[in-house]
Amino acid sequence: MAPGSGAAVLKTPPEEVIRQILAAAADQRAVQGATHSFYKYPARFSPVFASSVVQALSRPGDLVLDPYMGGGTTVVETMLAGRRAVGSDINSLSVFLAGAKTAAVSVAEIRQIEAWLKAVDSTMSYRRKTRRGSTANDVRTRNLDGGARSIRKVLGNALGSLTSLPSEAARQFVRCVLLKSSQWALDGRREFPTLVEFRERVRTDGRTMLGSISSFAAHAVEAEPPCLIHDSAANLPKYEPFLGGGRADLVVTSPPYPGIHVLYHRWQVLGRRETPAPYWIASRTDGHGAAHYGFGDRSEPDQAGYFSQLASCLRGIRAVTKRGAFFVQMVSFKDPKAHLRRFLECMSDAGFTEICTAFDDQSDRFWRPVPGRKWHAAVRGKTSASAETVLIHRAD
Ligand SMILES: C[S@@+](CC[C@H](N)C(=O)[O-])C[C@H]1O[C@@H](n2cnc3c(N)ncnc32)[C@H](O)[C@@H]1O
Repeated sequence: MAPGSGAAVLKTPPEEVIRQILAAAADQRAVQGATHSFYKYPARFSPVFASSVVQALSRPGDLVLDPYMGGGTTVVETMLAGRRAVGSDINSLSVFLAGAKTAAVSVAEIRQIEAWLKAVDSTMSYRRKTRRGSTANDVRTRNLDGGARSIRKVLGNALGSLTSLPSEAARQFVRCVLLKSSQWALDGRREFPTLVEFRERVRTDGRTMLGSISSFAAHAVEAEPPCLIHDSAANLPKYEPFLGGGRADLVVTSPPYPGIHVLYHRWQVLGRRETPAPYWIASRTDGHGAAHYGFGDRSEPDQAGYFSQLASCLRGIRAVTKRGAFFVQMVSFKDPKAHLRRFLECMSDAGFTEICTAFDDQSDRFWRPVPGRKWHAAVRGKTSASAETVLIHRAD
């Protein structure tokens, strides 16, 4: 649909539009562009997919909701397409990231951030004395020991120095730079970079990210700031006045997956030792186990907890979605045969009707192989757990 055409939203997308969306869903290129490379959010989807759905199934000015926004891919692409973005997530890190990726950073703030980056060698010096009561002693630095101890110390110094930046936007941006560089330095590592390499990485990440946020601002000139909600999708109706007084014209999302473990809230260092360090760096609260972020305990044999949370989130989403709005999601299943059927039942119970109902045999559906994801799941039946499918529904 041409931007600004004002054409009515299609009642049922023609096959050609569905084919375009599925082709975009199959996109296997590394995630890049806009501010998407600010953080590698686990199980994030391709910006090409989010953008193609937003362009095909909404009009400029429409309200696009991602109720489980994760790293904020949909929020960023929605703003770039000139639509209004609403995102929610139960993970405080997600809200931090979506905010940092869409922040309005002024020219004066860019100068301040550049000055901070120039001073990294002295600010992040190992010899610098850590202040008493500094953030380096924070419980969220758990498991940053052994070879990671020196990185923890210089990171603590860097975080302590943020008070020298005059605005909250500049401080948040630098936290995000440190988050990106630290994810590179720590997550999934058995051996850590040297402090010289780490500081160099902070400098280059910072410069690249400044370029990305400036270019995002130039392309999203007309976009309203997004509405970002830190809460369960089940509670979305509570926030309805914040949705610009309206309801969602389109929902684009990817929920937690039944039976599949994704580590949304931890980094793994030195093998499988988990650290809550991302919350320390982003200055956000944590305190929850994996089940909190994944709709319950994945080891439950019948996934009863998962489907009950899915049902209440879908009711919350339906309550803030316009009648006739499309709801497009990318989802994966540990046991596709059993889980997909129950997933579709929950959608239907919540008041959503599937558009592509031609898939009587679930193995005929579109399945996209998942590139290099960090999750653990068994392979069952015709489709493996490391494959995702796209579901297209409309609100009744
Ligand atoms: C598959 S990820 C979304 C990834 C996202 N599409 C992206 O591109 O980064 C699923 C997200 O659902 C969030 N989540 C889990 N339970 C939730 C709930 N009850 N309400 C809202 N979000 C929830 C998790 O924290 C996680 O960020």
